[in-house]
Amino acid sequence: MKTVFVTGATGYLGGYTVTRLLRDQPELRLALLVRGKDEREATEKLWRSLQLHMDAREFWSAISRIDFVLGDLTSTKLRLGIAPDAYERTVRSVESVLHIAASLNRKSEKACLNTNLRGTLAVIELARDVQARGGLRRYSHVSTVAVCGERDRETVQEDDAVDWDRSDYDPYGRTKKFCEHMAHVLLPGVQKTIFRPSIVMGDSTRPETSQFDMVRAFCVLADLPVVPVRAEARQDIVNADWVGRAIATVHMKAQPKYDIYHLAAGEQSLPAEAIARELAFAVGKRAPRFVGAAEKPFASAAEVMMRFPRKSSVALVGSLLHVFLPYITYDTVFDNTRIVSEIGASPVPFTAYCAELYRWAKKHEFAYPYAPLPARPVLAQSPEVQSV
Ligand SMILES: NC(=O)c1ccc[n+]([C@@H]2O[C@H](COP(=O)([O-])OP(=O)(O)OC[C@H]3O[C@@H](n4cnc5c(N)ncnc54)[C@H](OP(=O)(O)O)[C@@H]3O)[C@@H](O)[C@H]2O)c1
Repeated sequence: MKTVFVTGATGYLGGYTVTRLLRDQPELRLALLVRGKDEREATEKLWRSLQLHMDAREFWSAISRIDFVLGDLTSTKLRLGIAPDAYERTVRSVESVLHIAASLNRKSEKACLNTNLRGTLAVIELARDVQARGGLRRYSHVSTVAVCGERDRETVQEDDAVDWDRSDYDPYGRTKKFCEHMAHVLLPGVQKTIFRPSIVMGDSTRPETSQFDMVRAFCVLADLPVVPVRAEARQDIVNADWVGRAIATVHMKAQPKYDIYHLAAGEQSLPAEAIARELAFAVGKRAPRFVGAAEKPFASAAEVMMRFPRKSSVALVGSLLHVFLPYITYDTVFDNTRIVSEIGASPVPFTAYCAELYRWAKKHEFAYPYAPLPARPVLAQSPEVQSV
């Protein structure tokens, strides 16, 4: 039975990808790197991520195909802090590596250096150990379109995105760019796939989400009477269900056509005004006015808001706007021809589901109503996880 080593399964995109792998590949096992003190805690963390996708019955049945590998990308111990016997077992059983985990903390250089750089280096070392043992079928890395650095009014192709002379918006973009570079240099002779999602927001099949940063920024902007963005600035937004499907499908392919894919809306990206108009119509409110000239004063106002007491909602909104404004105003989109032809499916236009997302997120005050993990049904119990 094949085993894929996956990082980031307890996160938003990891949940989509792992669900897709479990459902599409019934023979597959997953070795999941999870931060947790023991298997019980790891199981509970995974349930938090997967309950958006499945009920407890499906979850408990999937657990029999999952090996938890307890470790941490930022561990100061060798080999991701994984216990030596567990590391040995993992390296012997794994046929491919799918590295999704990262710090998305755009304000903290320290978090990005530790998690993205040091963490990815340790995952690459594990991949090299697998390669040395019996061969590694594929190393896939979930990167981001933010590796393209500062841009203005462009359509970026996969092979032209990385330009080392260009400034980056934040430490997140810079460290993710270097992660791609490390994979390229340190894994010669291994098939590699780099996935670069654009702005991932919501699910085209239902309104629920468990990731709120970008959604909150979207709702704040949508509720303003005047939006500090040029009306025609295109917004490259994609649905998480399509992104998860793309990553899972391409990772399992024997011979994908390319080694880098933009998981993006590309030329189908819609102008800010078109999104606002559709949303206003769907929720029965007045569409905002777009004033591109207000961008700079607005950015300064966001900085002032950030200085409010740390946990206040003013500081939170200021911080979100400060972080995401460049991504909203830069009017840059990412060609998606490769991935659309590879998986035979396009992302769903944001306007098809943004109103439901807006209503649901506001109604639930930007928090997912997590349910605790129900007890394991006795009949589904299997020997490997009886201790959980
Ligand atoms: N969401 C987007 O819009 C978007 C867009 C472009 C690219 N991406 C990329 O997609 C990937 C996943 O993003 P996401 O939105 O799913 O992020 P997320 O929800 O914040 O999930 C991050 C995942 O990384 C794990 N992780 C973080 N630090 C770790 C550590 N020190 N050791 C082990 N695991 C650690 C987290 O584990 P815990 O549960 O223990 O915290 C979690 O499973 C990232 O590589 C990101 O750069 C995301």
